[in-house]
Amino acid sequence: MFVTFEGADRSGKSTQAQLLRDALEAEGREVVLTREPGGTELGERVRALVLDGPQMGAWAEAALFAASRAEHVEEVIRPALDRGAVVICDRYLDSSLAYQGIGRGLGVDAVLDLNLQVTGGLLPDVTVLLVLEPEVAAARAGRPDRLEREGAGLQGRVAEGYLELAERFPERIVVVDAARPPEEIAEEIHDRLRQRS
Ligand code: TYD
Repeated sequence: MFVTFEGADRSGKSTQAQLLRDALEAEGREVVLTREPGGTELGERVRALVLDGPQMGAWAEAALFAASRAEHVEEVIRPALDRGAVVICDRYLDSSLAYQGIGRGLGVDAVLDLNLQVTGGLLPDVTVLLVLEPEVAAARAGRPDRLEREGAGLQGRVAEGYLELAERFPERIVVVDAARPPEEIAEEIHDRLRQRS
């Protein structure tokens, strides 16, 4: 099973990804928890480039995320799925659809095509979308990266973009209200995955 977590910056995805890993491991499953951009040596370098690097055009940004993803699928995700592990990924291709496709205006279909090409068509079985008002997310502490420093415009488009994606891919994307205590959210996610598997 391939599960991804998505949401705007500071929606609590990483915490939820970890809590799900703990819950599945407690049931005796092998779990590989990984993240994007990152997950491989190339991915970590791409991460530094896109999050702290120079200004770049929208397609350069989309292509860098796609390069990181291609390597990640080949080196980490597919081998783990092939040996029967559950793979949990903190952000995956829907981040590119929401940020580059919708936020940057490249178009969902164009960015989806690129990403299906570079991943050999690997889509998640389930994508958990954590939804939080952009103002609430922005108020959570943390050091802002290059995309967050662009401020409310991009973040607002991304938040709406994710809801558009949830409508477009209802069979895969599960929408979860992220403005609640983490344990409560974790329980809901675990229950909803159980219903699907
Ligand atoms: P990260 O520090 O992982 O953010 P968070 O902790 O909120 O997940 O930074 C990832 C940033 O990169 C985030 O702003 C979203 C952006 N991003 C894209 O724009 N496109 C992508 O394909 C991916 C994977 C991330």
